[in-house]
Amino acid sequence: MDIFVDKISEFISQTINLDKNEVSKLIEVPPESKFGDYSFPCFTLSSKLKKNPLDISQEIKNKINPILFEKIDLKGPYVNFFLDKDFVAKTVINKGKTIVVDMSSPNIAKPFGIGHLRSTIIGNSLRHCFTSQGYKVIRINHLGDWGTQFGKLIIAFKKWGNTNALKKDPIKYMYKLYIKYHQYAEKHTEIDSEARLWFKKLEDGDKQAISIWKNFKELSLNDFQKIYDLLGVEFESYSGEAFYNNKMGIIIKGLKVKNLLIKSEGATIVDLSNFNLPPALIQKSDEATLYITRDLAAAIYRYDKYKFDKMIYEVGAEQKLHFQQLFKVLELMGCQWFKDCFHIYHGLYLDQDKKKLATRKGKTIFMEDILEESINKAKKIINKKNPNLKNKDLVAKDIGVGAIIFGDLSNDRTNDIILNINKFLSFDGETGPYIQYTHARACSILRKYKSNFDFNIKTSLLKEDLEKSLLLLISKYSQVIEKTINSFKPNILARYLLDLSQLFNEYYHKFKIIQDDKELEKSRIAIVYSIIIVLSDGLSLLGINSPKEM
Ligand code: ARG
Repeated sequence: MDIFVDKISEFISQTINLDKNEVSKLIEVPPESKFGDYSFPCFTLSSKLKKNPLDISQEIKNKINPILFEKIDLKGPYVNFFLDKDFVAKTVINKGKTIVVDMSSPNIAKPFGIGHLRSTIIGNSLRHCFTSQGYKVIRINHLGDWGTQFGKLIIAFKKWGNTNALKKDPIKYMYKLYIKYHQYAEKHTEIDSEARLWFKKLEDGDKQAISIWKNFKELSLNDFQKIYDLLGVEFESYSGEAFYNNKMGIIIKGLKVKNLLIKSEGATIVDLSNFNLPPALIQKSDEATLYITRDLAAAIYRYDKYKFDKMIYEVGAEQKLHFQQLFKVLELMGCQWFKDCFHIYHGLYLDQDKKKLATRKGKTIFMEDILEESINKAKKIINKKNPNLKNKDLVAKDIGVGAIIFGDLSNDRTNDIILNINKFLSFDGETGPYIQYTHARACSILRKYKSNFDFNIKTSLLKEDLEKSLLLLISKYSQVIEKTINSFKPNILARYLLDLSQLFNEYYHKFKIIQDDKELEKSRIAIVYSIIIVLSDGLSLLGINSPKEM
């Protein structure tokens, strides 16, 4: 619905006690702007409300909240609304609105997981969409660089570590150490308390502990950077869990002041049983903080720093409970803005037997390998289809990466996805490469058009039904972006680009574009031109490049 109609009907429905939906159906746009931006006729209501229409209109004018209106005029039974200019500008342009996107957020010393890939891809696309609508977007990579697991890793490294092996293939090596630790701990349970001790040392700033941890972190970030480079993703901030280590005191104090903390089996918790939620574990018995403690600190820090209008956490569905607890504790702490925080969750990747991908044959799958595999396959396809293409490697990268991104974003993020690289890469399925190919086809038609193009065309020559359908679909583009950001669902945009590509391909196969009738040719080229603009812009909002030739 029109957002202004929505607002006005909400106000009117409050003043005259009528259902908002009924009100909104009556609101009209006056024929001339001197009668207002919107108007509301009161005569149809007089029998229903058993009142004189003029009394109704007077009542609306008197009672309505004037803040959003420059003026409200009564013209007979009509109430004419003139919207406040600043309100209109703010609503339409979104300028100055800040949105924090907590995204990607892999764990240091562990492989970059599939969930992290989804979070990176979805978060990045939402970022582009919000930016295109005038928002200021802060991308935060909330690195998992703190927690008891680092106590374990430090011990494992001190016991079995080898610096050279670590340097050679850091993530795989650290991951091996981690697994070795757990195998060892099965028989030697005493090592767990040692690990806790080392994490405590880390929290207290012990030099040796910090230096090992720093090294792990740098090596991990180096590795993750390769994936970010491939995907073309950047962040405004890499402040992860460790960043909040020295900001815990205030949080604990804040919780205490609100009388929220209780002791339970030595640990400190916030009881959430009144809200049907498990307790939030704030501190262990040795006072070590937890994931949620650090998330509380992060949320409050970010609100102070960015004064965001919205904050979204793009994190897997398995953390739903965590975010419910987090938002609830924020509410209990009196942070009214908890309402502006959203957990934008995603489902899993499954393999072709619909099993959770990460556990396939007990093997870990490395995201970089998936991207590389897709790029290599794209290269093979190009070598077959268009061996003389210029910049083959670059195009292969755009197609291979685009295939994975689109394969993800074409699904509703809340669903699970079956990872099938061959299917994602197909040039004639519902894929990224299909749209890229359509775009490249449109570019090649434009290259064949020998004259200089401008939009000075004879629109009356565009008589085909398909042309009308295409133009109507093109005109829906900005609405589609709006829907995408309102629901945080890039698959809405992805679906639209597929529909547009399919319709354009149908048009291209049915009608001649390059032809002898130069007037008609130019008019049709205008459509081609518009298609290029929408497809490449739409793909870029998904985080996908659109090569001009492929
Ligand atoms: N590092 C976490 C994980 O891999 C994700 C962090 C998500 N962001 C947050 N603020 N909790 O599970």
